[in-house]
Amino acid sequence: MTLGIVILAAGQGTRMKSRLPKVLHHLGDRPLLQHVIDTARALQPARLVIVHGHGGEQVRAAITGDDLIWAEQAEQLGTGHALAQALPHLAGLDQVLVLYGDVPLIRTETLQGLLDAAGDSFGLLTVTLEDPTGYGRICRDGAGQVECIVEQKDATPQQLAIREVNTGIMVLPGGRLADWLGRLGKDNAQGEYYLTDVLAMAVAEGLAVAVAQPAEPVEAEGVNDRLQLASLERAWQRRQAEALMRAGLTLRDPARFDLRGSLRHGLDCEIDIDVVIEGEVTLGEGVRIGPHCVLRDCHIDDGVEVLAHCVIEQAKIGTGSRVGPFARLRPGAELTGGNHVGNFVEIKNAEIGEGSKVNHLSYVGDADIGRGVNIGAGTITCNYDGANKHRTRIGDQAFIGSNTALVAPVSVGRGATIGAGSVISKDAPEERLTLTRARQTTIEGWKRPEKKR
Ligand code: UD1
Ligand code: MG
Repeated sequence: MTLGIVILAAGQGTRMKSRLPKVLHHLGDRPLLQHVIDTARALQPARLVIVHGHGGEQVRAAITGDDLIWAEQAEQLGTGHALAQALPHLAGLDQVLVLYGDVPLIRTETLQGLLDAAGDSFGLLTVTLEDPTGYGRICRDGAGQVECIVEQKDATPQQLAIREVNTGIMVLPGGRLADWLGRLGKDNAQGEYYLTDVLAMAVAEGLAVAVAQPAEPVEAEGVNDRLQLASLERAWQRRQAEALMRAGLTLRDPARFDLRGSLRHGLDCEIDIDVVIEGEVTLGEGVRIGPHCVLRDCHIDDGVEVLAHCVIEQAKIGTGSRVGPFARLRPGAELTGGNHVGNFVEIKNAEIGEGSKVNHLSYVGDADIGRGVNIGAGTITCNYDGANKHRTRIGDQAFIGSNTALVAPVSVGRGATIGAGSVISKDAPEERLTLTRARQTTIEGWKRPEKKR
């Protein structure tokens, strides 16, 4: 059977109180509409149509894909009218699945179940809610067969008591669509063309109506304001956290974990509370991430320990290293392995050789550092002359004394020692002590001044 999917996304989203169209607000790493598109694509539809309205240009600029067909609904006259705008793109389809751009957590499995149940007839996704206020109610006849959907504003008191509601997600037989939509009226409380009215038409024609329910009601929840956005963000994070925990990752508290991208991990990794992961992050085996860290587009190898409050972006951390607390690894930082990077250390665009240590209060930028090097506290690579960046090179086993300024371009030879407090602006030779320091003197007979009476 050929499947077409239409995503209705023309609503104004007034209650968001935003310049951004509602469907472009983010859940995790992606706009709401992108979640729905990704789920729709997993069903491999022959056609994927998005009905846009308000903010259409902004939506089309933010959401791209060669497979997307855009249909404009210039005026929001109701869900039936919205689907009618997609009709020119829906010829020759057996099944047309209707999704909402502001209902982001619907699962592919749920939709596949609905499509299978519907076959070439009509299918409706419903949920039963404690509080059905605001939703269209599902009316069933004495035999339990679905008869119609009645909107909140059109319902009788008896109908308002029904707790089974329309999620809005439905499958329609493609061949009947044009006729049904053409017959919709707007003689109802809201003066809108209700898509839901086609259900009664299907029933009148004797078509079977298949009803399916999602595994969890949150799949059918929509976003109308920022409170609902926050609530669905938590649900999305919970869903991701559960998948990671099932795959063997320890999360000290899944309620205090945010993944805005993708995370791959080896066995026995552990992530402490309030960690934010963005972009593509990979962890080897036995990696431990301390509390309050941000990891963005980075690779962390086996046995690495990242202590509390680190920010790591576009960096690589080699096997067995220990980073933090309070360290910042910026783009191009590469720790080869067995490294120690301590508190208040910033590393950018620099390779740190195996076993080398930068333990305290240092800036290492645009540098190549050999193996077994010890960089003392407060060492600064002066990589920027106000116009250009220059590199610092430090050979294996070198020892850089505390509070050294390395004025790049400059090299420190293998096994060299730099005395504390030096400003090194010329290359320092191998295996020797180099220092720039005024000689220490003690003045004999000197007395502190005393206060005049
Ligand atoms: C609709 C259903 C209701 C269901 C509820 C579930 C109808 C008549 N009612 O009600 O039975 O319980 O959804 O949330 O269908 N949209 C457009 N163009 C329009 C109107 C809406 O694109 O002219 C889009 C909106 O962007 C949104 C979706 O359709 O994504 C639903 O619109 P909304 O106004 O929220 O529908 P409800 O009146 O809540
Ligand atoms: Mg409405």
